[in-house]
Amino acid sequence: MTDAQPLLKLDGIARNFGAIEALRGIDMHVDRGEVLALLGDNGAGKSTLVKIIAGGLRPSAGRMLFDGAPRDFATPAEAKAAGIETVYQDLSLCTNADVVANFFMGREITRRVLGIPILQERAMEAVVAQAMAEAGTTIPSLRTNVENLSGGQRQAIELNRFVHWGGKLVLLDEPFAALGVEQTRRGLAMIRQVAARGIGVIVITHIMAQAFAVADRIVVIRQGRVAGDVKSNQTTPEAVIEMITGGTLSGAGPDRDRDTHDPASETEEARQ
Ligand SMILES: Nc1ncnc2c1ncn2[C@@H]1O[C@H](COP(=O)(O)OP(=O)(O)OP(=O)(O)O)[C@@H](O)[C@H]1O
Ligand SMILES: [Mg+2]
Repeated sequence: MTDAQPLLKLDGIARNFGAIEALRGIDMHVDRGEVLALLGDNGAGKSTLVKIIAGGLRPSAGRMLFDGAPRDFATPAEAKAAGIETVYQDLSLCTNADVVANFFMGREITRRVLGIPILQERAMEAVVAQAMAEAGTTIPSLRTNVENLSGGQRQAIELNRFVHWGGKLVLLDEPFAALGVEQTRRGLAMIRQVAARGIGVIVITHIMAQAFAVADRIVVIRQGRVAGDVKSNQTTPEAVIEMITGGTLSGAGPDRDRDTHDPASETEEARQ
């Protein structure tokens, strides 16, 4: 395997839910150290795609190559073992355990004393403290239960844990939806730091400014297909909106952007 190969390559990934064709043949790739923003209207297929990559859903058709090998993850645990993980704001942390316990969950350092495994709390705390310091993350106390931390702090713990345990591709589905301005700014900076370590990042966002702030490349999904794949420094927000809406922004096509504030068509939509 060489670095010239993309970290992740998708080839004709499709997924049906009964009669609904949520994905209709997605071809895309992510490089090591690259941040890719996945954009698209509601229902375009972004979450479905991310779930397939992370082993949460099986594709109906298509191939996935990860780290040089064909992969078909049956469960999120399999994807995680290969180095792919979805970072949620709090869903995968145990709120009634402290930061250190969450960081190590299932990987605790123990020492056998008279044959009995004893947790090495000091050693574990030092590892977490160092990982947090390297990432520039400040948590008031590593012995605080996670339930007392903010959404942004929880996200930071998850990302740091992922990096520390050798993750290779991290997926974030609207990670900043519930965060304030400052926490979002820190979250975006953390994504760049994670990528700088050679990790691939896919981030779903509806906010154009965030996509342009953090991403090297923007991939637009529209009605289950790739409608655009562009370097973010070679495009404009206007061009990306065109891709999202299929250029029907000023028309009245069936997939026109519901966020355009055209009072006439809003009335029309309301009547439907
Ligand atoms: N489990 C499911 N069962 C049936 N249909 C589903 C299921 N999951 C997704 N879909 C359908 O697949 C399509 C794509 O949904 P998906 O959640 O991937 O969209 P999305 O791009 O993430 O949208 P949003 O921006 O609103 O989160 C939608 O039409 C949705 O209704
Ligand atoms: Mg979604």
